[in-house]
Amino acid sequence: MTIDSAQPFSAIVLAAGKSTRMKSKTPKALHSIAGQPLLQHVLDALVEAGAERIIIVVGHQAEQVKATLGEDFEYVLQEEQLGTGHAVRMAESLLSGSELPIVVVPGDAPLLTAEAVSGLLEKHSNNHVTLLSVELDNPTGYGRVLRADDGNIIGIIEEKDADVKQRKIREVAVSIYAFHPEFLFTSLALLSPSNAQREYYLTDTVGIARSQGKQVATFIWDDPDVGLGVNNRVELSAVSKKLNARIIRKHQINGVTVIDPSSTFIDKAVKIGVDTIVHPFTILSGVTDIGEDSVIGPGVRISDSMIGDQVRIRDSYVVSSEVGSGTTIGPFANLRPGSTVGKNVKIGDFVELKKATIDDNVSAGHFAYLGDVTIGSRTNIGAGTITCNYDGANKHEIVIGADSFIGSNSTLVAPVTIGNNSFVAAGSVITDEVEEGSLALGRARQVNKPGWSKLHKPTKNTKK
Ligand code: UD1
Ligand code: CA
Repeated sequence: MTIDSAQPFSAIVLAAGKSTRMKSKTPKALHSIAGQPLLQHVLDALVEAGAERIIIVVGHQAEQVKATLGEDFEYVLQEEQLGTGHAVRMAESLLSGSELPIVVVPGDAPLLTAEAVSGLLEKHSNNHVTLLSVELDNPTGYGRVLRADDGNIIGIIEEKDADVKQRKIREVAVSIYAFHPEFLFTSLALLSPSNAQREYYLTDTVGIARSQGKQVATFIWDDPDVGLGVNNRVELSAVSKKLNARIIRKHQINGVTVIDPSSTFIDKAVKIGVDTIVHPFTILSGVTDIGEDSVIGPGVRISDSMIGDQVRIRDSYVVSSEVGSGTTIGPFANLRPGSTVGKNVKIGDFVELKKATIDDNVSAGHFAYLGDVTIGSRTNIGAGTITCNYDGANKHEIVIGADSFIGSNSTLVAPVTIGNNSFVAAGSVITDEVEEGSLALGRARQVNKPGWSKLHKPTKNTKK
């Protein structure tokens, strides 16, 4: 989705920093929240706002970042991290001659929204620089916005360069700006690292614009989360929680009942139809699509799966599988990857599926392992049915036809075929084909010995 009113713009995303405080082998940009890399959330917001070009400044572990985010974006390398101003300069050759306004955003603030970017651009109009600012209760660590007595912005002062009085300012810069392209690169050439951190500060471009009498504006955004950065793993979980709440709220607004957002986790790519109810202790992840009028949870984990309408799943796992409309799953069922379950099927407690293709109206109500199997419509799988699909070296397939009945505690040894409308007696071990319409008895016949108890059954009196 892109926002219609958006004017065309280019974007530069700052993601070259080392992120030492993450204490990780994985680059910060690639740590996952809501099912996708942190940096991907920033890129999504820019794409949604209508960015024509997105240039990512990469540095540490650049190759890994590029390989993960792919070729929809342009990359420039900042070999040495000499500051945010230096980082933006790396994109100069790619953008030379472009007339489009340039939006700069930090790569580690995944709560950025398309609305904030569009609002910033609207305010920006033909300014030389427009700075997005927010008011924080605790501004510690952020660059403070300095204003003259008339309220006009003078510049930004970094925490480490600020005096005691300046540190009390609660209006902060969150590294989100819109620039006139020519002004941006001419002002970057004027930066000097004469500050506490010996870095080229992008923030100094605001002071430069002011001193040159250029048009400078601030765009005060009322959601302080927009620039909330992730610098360590404590912040990673805090931002994750906020993003989860935002995702759940969106589903609620769109007609999904989520009973308890605080115990429900939903990845960004998950789709849920109207009037579906999500009960507590449920995790919906990856590329998962759930239909309408379904009831999911409590205690359900679904990842990368397609779930139909009016499906009921509780206390179960569903991984990389499909579940048709009207089907009930659980409690305590485990659908492992590659399973396709049809419509109006019943998969009951302690039933494990793996690469199982199950047609409509099948019932497997209790305790079963059904792996590498195809089951036709309306067939009943008795309690305790086990498919022996593995011979210790290879996996083999089992085909069970439609309208058949597999008696309880049957063992089906693959490869084997059981025809339509056939009947397997309870307790059978099936190793040979069962032809359509037949009864298979794969067990010893019961033998009764009349009067045996009186002669042979041990009693308390015979106990030694
Ligand atoms: C920066 C801002 C500060 C703002 C804060 C939070 C400056 C000088 N300060 O401070 O006003 O309140 O962000 O938004 O801009 N990066 C590079 N190359 C570099 C340095 C940084 O790509 O050489 C990237 C980082 O990976 C990060 C972003 O720029 O994504 C911000 O860098 P960071 O070091 O976190 O800046 P702060 O000191 O927090
Ligand atoms: Ca930061």
